Amino acid sequence: MVWCTESACFDQALSGETPVTTLITGGIGYVGSHTVVSLHESGRRVVVLDDFSNARRSAIGALQSLTDQNLEVVKGDAADRETVEAVFDAYGVDSVIHFAAHKSVAESMSQPLRYFTNNLLSTLTLASVSVECNVSRFVFSSSATVYGTPSVLPITEDMPLDPQSPYGATKSMCERILSDTASATDMRTVMLRYFNPVGAHPSARIGEDPLGVPQNLVPIVMQVASGRLPKLPIYGGDYDTRDGTTVRDYIHVMDLAEGHLAALDTDLGQHSSRVYNLGTGVETTVLEIVAAASEATQREIPYEIVGRRIGDIGASWADCGRAAAELGWRAHRGLSEMLADHWNFVRQHPHGLS
Ligand code: UD1
Repeated sequence: MVWCTESACFDQALSGETPVTTLITGGIGYVGSHTVVSLHESGRRVVVLDDFSNARRSAIGALQSLTDQNLEVVKGDAADRETVEAVFDAYGVDSVIHFAAHKSVAESMSQPLRYFTNNLLSTLTLASVSVECNVSRFVFSSSATVYGTPSVLPITEDMPLDPQSPYGATKSMCERILSDTASATDMRTVMLRYFNPVGAHPSARIGEDPLGVPQNLVPIVMQVASGRLPKLPIYGGDYDTRDGTTVRDYIHVMDLAEGHLAALDTDLGQHSSRVYNLGTGVETTVLEIVAAASEATQREIPYEIVGRRIGDIGASWADCGRAAAELGWRAHRGLSEMLADHWNFVRQHPHGLS
């Protein structure tokens, strides 16, 4: 375990007052980093625990610049009990947002044990230390992938779960661990099921910065726009959708970040735990993404329709009514803003954050 010295965090925390703090695991990653900024803007004290397995160290500097150099970052593994206990002791953690996880569907198919071990152990460790330390709220980063192929659209939270990959299974198993824990303790848990996050902070200082080859649609589209890839393969043109390409519910990562803030504060009433879809409820096809990205980048996006990708579903979009009614949260940013912000980040960091 290494304590980062960027903000002299650990010594300072040990010696000074310890006001209540939100622990954000995986806070250097894509959704995590934008959530750190939202929480900071709301005046909360945040400590990040991240092992940097899928993030560049340089992302810390970018995040520091957006948080008035006030960010506390600890390098360590959320599955390591000693590390987690030390962070709780040092910072007086009273709420947790847990992002740290392996997240590639394809990789989880070939390395299921690695996914189950990492994603379950970190959740078990954090939940257990959280209960011991009287954490009042635990927010979990889940995914719409837990639904599998939906029988009805839009997808509501009470639809049966049917994850199709080890990655998806880890998300639904962690949800179960957390809701059972909430039923038996005073800790209240909120599970947020994300649809398809895209976009970047409007400053373009942080954004999606995957190590290695991107696997999701919008990062690939942006690489085509910037000339790093010659053309976009569109996986399937024969789906039962309005133009034959797959339909998804894309959501701006800043809207998603604000959803976490709402989840930390909301009164769950009689519920010990609650699940919310975070999406826009807007259906967008791959061809519509191509057209909107072409507009946002003012570049042509060459594409070719090829065979379907194994494991893909034809259509998925969210019913966001529960989040609106209970969290008072709604996505505000539209597709053109998502793609303009994503492009702005990619253009300013063509080789990732350095
Ligand atoms: C994927 C993951 C999901 C994860 C989400 C995060 C799978 C099966 N699911 O969802 O668990 O939460 O990313 O955003 O991997 N497409 C192309 N060409 C490409 C890339 C993608 O046509 O080069 C299509 C895909 O077939 C898909 C759509 O674009 O229908 C969106 O793909 P992607 O961004 O990978 O997201 P999902 O598959 O929805």
